[in-house]
Amino acid sequence: MGRNRIGVVGAGFVGATLAQRLADAQLGDVVLSDIKELDGMPQGKALDIMETGPIVGSDARMVGTTAVEDMKDCDVIVITAGLARKPGMTREDLIDKNAGILRGVVERVSISSPNAILIVVTNPLDVMAYLAYKVSKFPKNRVVGMAGVLDAARFAFFIAEKLNCSSQDVRAMVLGSHGDTMVPLPRFTSVWGVPITELLSEEAVEQLVNRTRDGGAEIVKLLKQGSAYYAPSQSVLVMVQSILRDEKRLLPACAVLDGEYGLKDIMMGVPVILGRTGVERVVELRLRPEELKMFKDSAAKVAEGTRHMKLA
Ligand code: NAI
Ligand code: 2OP
Repeated sequence: MGRNRIGVVGAGFVGATLAQRLADAQLGDVVLSDIKELDGMPQGKALDIMETGPIVGSDARMVGTTAVEDMKDCDVIVITAGLARKPGMTREDLIDKNAGILRGVVERVSISSPNAILIVVTNPLDVMAYLAYKVSKFPKNRVVGMAGVLDAARFAFFIAEKLNCSSQDVRAMVLGSHGDTMVPLPRFTSVWGVPITELLSEEAVEQLVNRTRDGGAEIVKLLKQGSAYYAPSQSVLVMVQSILRDEKRLLPACAVLDGEYGLKDIMMGVPVILGRTGVERVVELRLRPEELKMFKDSAAKVAEGTRHMKLA
């Protein structure tokens, strides 16, 4: 069996940082691509990353390219192509521009890498992931979006900071859309098995939940141009690793719902088992009525975005 081949579309902040993390982790060889107008940029970044190899002890090879034909026969393709948010913009503001970009990318890569698993990162995440699913016509297990790992990591970090404990021991669960209606779930969030509801007051939990919902915007406001990329790229790395190493980790991710949680033909953040065939299972949590209501409200918001794209 040859080496794994990983395509990263978009060599901007998230894409290039991910490419470096992939090379460091030696998960496979990487093709890093961007648009023709930026010819030289992905090539330069790829060379710079490969020159890191002797220092970190990585033999991963990387091709930087603006030629679509180089993005072929990949096992996994991560799509980060598109515009990022500027201060004051919502993820939904990005919808029209990024839908056009994503459609073009997916039409091409689904032909050149027909067996790949697609991981969508471009925002608005749930809507773009659904677009990739529809345009690629790939089976539902082979299209997934990254958001839940990031949102859960933010929630976990805020909890660790508040409790002054190690963030390694915090496991958080966040469902729903990667937007204002995301559903952090305190009841399924613990510090080494101790529910946070035992450790923090209701008011403190509420504050952390709200900060998690605004986690992306908090970074955008600080950076003033562009959005987060260190935690996002690490979140994608964990997903690629779970797939290529068949780790079968249970992670929150944006997956096709086909009756689970009473929803059909929509992509949303849910716990999934990620393995060599992609989304191997959507895990259905028994939600309380108030949690289910938040989840359904979030679904309604995502459905609004998907209808806007007139895909059906
Ligand atoms: P960026 O602007 O640094 O990079 C995007 C890159 O995509 C640019 O280099 C651009 O030239 C390239 N691109 C545009 N059209 C392309 C095409 N047709 N083919 C190949 N490349 C193309 O933006 P950044 O910070 O890397 O973010 C990328 C996207 O990821 C944004 O939509 C952002 O909102 C989203 N994002 C999503 C997260 C999530 O949790 N799902 C987290 C962080 C970012
Ligand atoms: C984030 O949450 C921008 O969606 C991106 O940081």
